[in-house]
Amino acid sequence: MPDSKYLDKKNLVDILDSLEVGIVYVDQDHKFAFVNKAGEEIRGICSEDRLGTSILQCHSERIHGKVLDDLHAFNTGEYATRHKMIKSKGKYFDNNYNVVKDENGNFRGVVLASQDVTEKVELERQLVKANEELEKKIKERTREIKNAYEKLKIAQFQLMHSEKMAAIGQFVSGVAHEINNPLDGIQNCIKMVLSDLDNKEQAEDYLSLALEGLFRIEVLVRRLLDYAKPHSNEKVRVNVHDIIEDAIELTKFKLKEKGIAITKEFHNESLFIFGETHYLGQVFVNLILNAYDAISDDGSITISTSVDNNKNIKISIKDTGIGISEEDRIKVFNPFFTTKQKDNGTGLGLYLAYNVINEHAGNIDIKSEINKGTEIIITLPHFEESNEVIKDNIEILDTARK
Ligand SMILES: Nc1ncnc2c1ncn2[C@@H]1O[C@H](COP(=O)(O)OP(=O)(O)OP(=O)(O)O)[C@@H](O)[C@H]1O
Ligand SMILES: [Mg+2]
Repeated sequence: MPDSKYLDKKNLVDILDSLEVGIVYVDQDHKFAFVNKAGEEIRGICSEDRLGTSILQCHSERIHGKVLDDLHAFNTGEYATRHKMIKSKGKYFDNNYNVVKDENGNFRGVVLASQDVTEKVELERQLVKANEELEKKIKERTREIKNAYEKLKIAQFQLMHSEKMAAIGQFVSGVAHEINNPLDGIQNCIKMVLSDLDNKEQAEDYLSLALEGLFRIEVLVRRLLDYAKPHSNEKVRVNVHDIIEDAIELTKFKLKEKGIAITKEFHNESLFIFGETHYLGQVFVNLILNAYDAISDDGSITISTSVDNNKNIKISIKDTGIGISEEDRIKVFNPFFTTKQKDNGTGLGLYLAYNVINEHAGNIDIKSEINKGTEIIITLPHFEESNEVIKDNIEILDTARK
């Protein structure tokens, strides 16, 4: 049994009066039985006037029925506790009602603990407002980023388009130059023939020179037409191994001429890219033929494929040919750069390969050592059905190309 001084009524009232929580106790006859100091303030009740009076006097008649119903519900045990948030005179109160019972469990009344939570509510409101503002700002920023992205996409497209136009200009002037050279020669030859029609021997020499010039133009035009030949340029999901196999099939008779062995070191699984089979096929045929041209006899070509951690497909075409000098290596992608005999090369193969690989969001690199050989390394994005980014990038490139 605790010391009785601690249960002293005065002591208890002092304790309850020291609380910031308003305590109002209403007995089973719905009369005010106790109100602490904070309760007086919060409820606007003066204990001296109110103690022993009915709580109905504090409520308008209109809600007397409701108040009595609530008290009855506490009495019958329908409510054990209740919680209500009320607003009074611009302040918010968190009200908790609890049933008070005697030692036999009989209903004695209801105690209301009322706490001023105005500050908390105000803070919450500010928080909600700040949150709303934040959301608004995030939405604005997202919109700005989206707009910037769209603008960037357009700029990227325009840039690629202008680069493309510059490249076309460079290409066209190259074509004109390549045609003009032999045309000049042909013109001169014909002039020479016409100047001395009786000189049959001279006429024969000049006419065969003119024919050589015409043949050179014919090869060039055929090559250009081949590249521009109508074909379905729709990009599809395609296994690079199939494209390489087709290119080997197309070139194997030529390789046999020099007894060149071709070795495949393919990755053990299919490697898919999103691309145009026609153009890519041309790239590999040209690379194999370049290797063929570089190898004198009995050399070999190794084509290997792999995939790296960043999901890039790597294709290597390695030969044991004459190699490329450092000086030439920076020129080999230029249109019409060739070191081959007049009728053997137009110098367009690597130029076109570079463009095609670029248009597939890929890269083409060269490693070479004189008299040891050359390795052409192509990287292309690995394409999985779900990989929309690759499709997007390639589609931007496509749009720029048109
Ligand atoms: N595998 C290789 N080994 C050595 N040199 C090479 C190799 N591939 C390309 N080259 C050099 O790069 C040049 C350009 O190659 P590219 O394929 O663009 O044109 P080309 O083969 O000369 O003519 P085209 O392919 O138009 O018939 C070649 O002339 C050659 O000097
Ligand atoms: Mg070539």
